[in-house]
Amino acid sequence: MSFKVIGTGTCLPQKVVTNDDLSEFVDTSDEWIFPRTGIKRRHVCTTETLDDLAISAAQKAVEMSGIDPGQIGLVVCSTTSSDHPIPSVACVVAGSLGIECPAYDVYIACSGFVHGLEIADGYFARGRAKYALVLSAEKCTRLVDWSDRSTCVLFGDGAGAAVIEATDDESLPMRGWTKAGFELTLPGQPSKSPYDQHPADYGDSLAMNGRAIFRFAVKAINKEVKALAAEAGIDYHDIDHYIFHQANERILSFAVDHLGIDNDKVVRTIQETGNISSACIPIAMDKLNREGKLHDGDLLCLVGFGGGLSVGSCLIRWQS
Ligand code: UT7
Repeated sequence: MSFKVIGTGTCLPQKVVTNDDLSEFVDTSDEWIFPRTGIKRRHVCTTETLDDLAISAAQKAVEMSGIDPGQIGLVVCSTTSSDHPIPSVACVVAGSLGIECPAYDVYIACSGFVHGLEIADGYFARGRAKYALVLSAEKCTRLVDWSDRSTCVLFGDGAGAAVIEATDDESLPMRGWTKAGFELTLPGQPSKSPYDQHPADYGDSLAMNGRAIFRFAVKAINKEVKALAAEAGIDYHDIDHYIFHQANERILSFAVDHLGIDNDKVVRTIQETGNISSACIPIAMDKLNREGKLHDGDLLCLVGFGGGLSVGSCLIRWQS
């Protein structure tokens, strides 16, 4: 039992903010941001809600798949930045498609899309669904402190989605692990309980130790690519497309150098979008798909990493 991707979709907010735009109100510059991160611009929500992005990306993926939405047996959405934990974004998306299957969010930061695929794969294995909609929607710009130059320049907003279909092909490896740590933190709502003696432990915005996560990310990519290839019994140089989380161009370049892989096989969206947390991977997959770069039989390697600290990775055989 395995699955194939039959539809992909992306939605990015209309407004584009350049590095120069940011330098008008934060002490930063394109000369710092671009060489350090590879980011030139990012899409930022203004009138769009996170639900709008999620629904639009999902609709595009379903439309490409050609299936009737009623055939979808599961909706999983990865997000850590929704406007409302209840209802889940997945419930809102399912409602917009007019379907009543199980629908819920996973909350595991940048690796969430890959974990969503693994959850869907489990539904397929148990015969609980034939088709699943797996998506990621992130509005990171609502979480950062816009006076903190070390974080606000890195992130953007957007959503990416995939419709996947169960197949009888042999399973390819999927992996996931965590290394619990507080290198990246995001506060929840302040407690309303009169009994609660815990202060707001994690401040009021997303905070991170960039250098520690950088080191973690480089090691994680290296480890995952080798482990996936070993589990599949292949040489990782035979992988056709590497879709890594887009946190920093320098992380991607390190991976290319460490693994000795072809630079052109590593998809990049970071220059145009910045880091959109878990939405980076489905958006990058949709980009490759819509540019006609994915061919029947191609092997894709997905590696997500980030807050948790968490990692999710998998191999996917493309079928057209
Ligand atoms: O999605 C997963 C989560 N995030 C990541 O994976 C991020 C991984 N980490 C990174 O991408 C990099 O660590 C960053 C891009 C976040 C930071 O790059 P860095 O080379 O580690 O810089 P740094 O934080 O060590 O800062 C170096 C200097 C500091 O100044 P001093 O103390 O040397 O005077 C910062 O204050 O650069 C300064 N700085 C800035 N200057 C201009 C930090 N941010 C900025 C900025 N503009 N935006």
